[in-house]
Amino acid sequence: MTERSGSGFWTAQRVLVTGGRGFLGSHVVERLKALRPKVLIVPSRRDCDLTSLPAVESLIKKERPSMVINLAAVCGGIGANQAEPGRFFYENIIMGAQLMDASRRLGVEKLLQVGTVCSYPKHTPVPFEEESLWDGYPEETNAPYGIAKKALLVQAQAYRQQYGFNAIYIIPINLYGPGDHFNLKTSHVIPALIRKCATAAETSARSIECWGTGKATREFLYVEDAARGLLMAAERYNKPAPINLGFGGEISIKELVELIAKLTGFKGEILWDSRKPDGQPRRHLEVSKALKEFGFKAETSLEEGLKKTVAWYRSQVKAGALTE
Ligand SMILES: NC(=O)c1ccc[n+]([C@@H]2O[C@H](COP(=O)([O-])OP(=O)(O)OC[C@H]3O[C@@H](n4cnc5c(N)ncnc54)[C@H](OP(=O)(O)O)[C@@H]3O)[C@@H](O)[C@H]2O)c1
Repeated sequence: MTERSGSGFWTAQRVLVTGGRGFLGSHVVERLKALRPKVLIVPSRRDCDLTSLPAVESLIKKERPSMVINLAAVCGGIGANQAEPGRFFYENIIMGAQLMDASRRLGVEKLLQVGTVCSYPKHTPVPFEEESLWDGYPEETNAPYGIAKKALLVQAQAYRQQYGFNAIYIIPINLYGPGDHFNLKTSHVIPALIRKCATAAETSARSIECWGTGKATREFLYVEDAARGLLMAAERYNKPAPINLGFGGEISIKELVELIAKLTGFKGEILWDSRKPDGQPRRHLEVSKALKEFGFKAETSLEEGLKKTVAWYRSQVKAGALTE
């Protein structure tokens, strides 16, 4: 989708983006601005805590959005999921459920709920097809988060069936890119590895230690591609079935570490702490439905996206902008 192709659609919209100041959200908002929606509302958690129903209702009554894009979530890597499973379950389900219900009752025309690949069963046949979502329990370390998100798919489908509410559900694979969170305790795998390797390269460390065995595989989607895909879905997709949003290829964590080591200039040894969990054994999405239903295809290769992410990370370190 070029910035201009959707402009007729978007200029008529009053768009509310919740979670719009987060990592993915800030890229979605940047892209949306270029599409010139009639109104663009991007509240922070302080402006509207989505776990509070009165706050959600008063936001929607005040702003009267025609389109809601819900990107708000509490999320993070394996460590963050293991540290706060209760919070990850409760806040994700309550934020999404309240926002969707208030949107339906208060006249919103369409809502896009973002899901997560963590909802897929632990041993989903690869590549993951949308039809496999309910064929088993998710990988234990991220199940509370994944199930809370998956419940919102049921809500979207039930609301379409009972109330004719146009709620769609898009499932992005793991994202990475500029603006990601680089806190070692809570970050996802790519920012954690970039930080580790870049720091080790700068201090000429002999080795770095990584979690797990390195054998698990993952797929990664560059965040600007993800933002483009979500807006294409928001504009063009109006059906109950969930749709995967991915890059369409997988890489082992071992190969990923080697690639990031190369891009950051770290030449030392990579040690594996196999007492730490690998997480889900394999992650790789089947991505043909996104192309068929709303024309999305990822454009940024992993190496190209990682180069931009490493450059962004280094610019932040140089500017003293990374506080954690
Ligand atoms: N990152 C990934 O790899 C990935 C992959 C698949 C799906 N997703 C999904 O994509 C979405 C965005 O993820 P992200 O990585 O961009 O996360 P993020 O950077 O942590 O952003 C999450 C956003 O949610 C907001 N939020 C959290 N609790 C809130 C509350 N109680 N009330 C209002 N807002 C609240 C945060 O607001 P404040 O900034 O004001 O705290 C933040 O803007 C999430 O739904 C996530 O599940 C992400």
